[in-house]
Amino acid sequence: MKVNHHALELEQNYLFSEVAKRIRAFQAENTGKELLKLSIGDVTRPLAKIITDEMKAAAEDMSHAETFHGYGAEQGEAFLRDAVAAYYKKHGIEIDAADIFISDGAKCDLGNLCDLFDADNTVLLPNPVYPVYYDTSIMAGRRVVFSAGTKENGFLPMPDDSVSADIIYLCSPNNPTGAVYSREQLAEWVAYAKRQNALILFDAAYESYIRDPKLPHSIYEIPGAETCALEINSLSKMAGFTGVRCGWTVVPRTLQFDGASLHDMWFRRMATKYNGTSYIIQRAAAKVFTDEGQIAVHKDIDYYMENARILKDALNQAGINSVGGENAPYVWMECPDNADSWAYFDRLLHTYGIAGTPGVGFGTAGQGWLRFSSFGTRETVEKAAAFLAKQ
Ligand code: MLT
Repeated sequence: MKVNHHALELEQNYLFSEVAKRIRAFQAENTGKELLKLSIGDVTRPLAKIITDEMKAAAEDMSHAETFHGYGAEQGEAFLRDAVAAYYKKHGIEIDAADIFISDGAKCDLGNLCDLFDADNTVLLPNPVYPVYYDTSIMAGRRVVFSAGTKENGFLPMPDDSVSADIIYLCSPNNPTGAVYSREQLAEWVAYAKRQNALILFDAAYESYIRDPKLPHSIYEIPGAETCALEINSLSKMAGFTGVRCGWTVVPRTLQFDGASLHDMWFRRMATKYNGTSYIIQRAAAKVFTDEGQIAVHKDIDYYMENARILKDALNQAGINSVGGENAPYVWMECPDNADSWAYFDRLLHTYGIAGTPGVGFGTAGQGWLRFSSFGTRETVEKAAAFLAKQ
């Protein structure tokens, strides 16, 4: 038996596992310092009651022969796909429900989509980047090239025609930097993808955090994207579903590559390797897209965005440069005194009990930066902000 040697090319620990390991070591020291956790982007607000009530009602359905559900539809239940399509329509985007595939989350889809692409493809990644894009590309044995986000370009790298690519990952609002592409910038990416005959994988997991009405929520706001992009999204951050698990991917039937329909390939892949998101969860997810559901989840989104504002204010007071946090739940700060990301991470953790995520963990271009998640509780954020303001 031979193993996949590409999987051995990865760093020993997934970034968030390494951060968690250092946090556990800090806790084991028993210094009496409270841990102020602003590292992994995991939500802390409980689910809205309107959503858990829907889960309970759906669970009740399962206990009666007349309303019981076994295996669901391969692509996800029609009621949920229609609700997602209607959500896009509210943003003025026409997506056919037949092009939407329900899943158990964006991270899983991002990894699973790799099944559709040959190993002999060049992947273009922004740097810094959500580690899942890099790790899954390496595991699949693909070549990876980078496009650097810098302070000068506002961590929004733009296409360069001298770089060839077959698969392009974009995340906007961005994890980890919180930067958001404008419509014009995304149009440049779409034009580049078409020139390259490349596919864009657009991760829109944080679109519900956008405040500025001029900023695009979806790649499909750009004309022509339906022939070169698929889009991944999830309810993890929009509705607090990190522990519930539900997401979706839009694979338009207009996407044709190498003589094949990516839609038909993804349908076949899902039918073979996935038995669907639980009926109870799909019912809860559909509730998120109702008017009352949107009001409820936006209360939590507002709460997290207020956390981001508090963190940014504290950094401003301390004279520390940061980006993000205005249309995204991540604040990306420049480590003071040109400190190395991991050294500054350790210093914040051991001096104040504050845990962020070292920027270099998201790629070499993140060296000297650190990410704060604004998904903590208000109490945690206020305590951390007080330390950060006077450091
Ligand atoms: C993060 O901290 O970047 C997120 O939790 C990652 C994720 O959503 O998987």
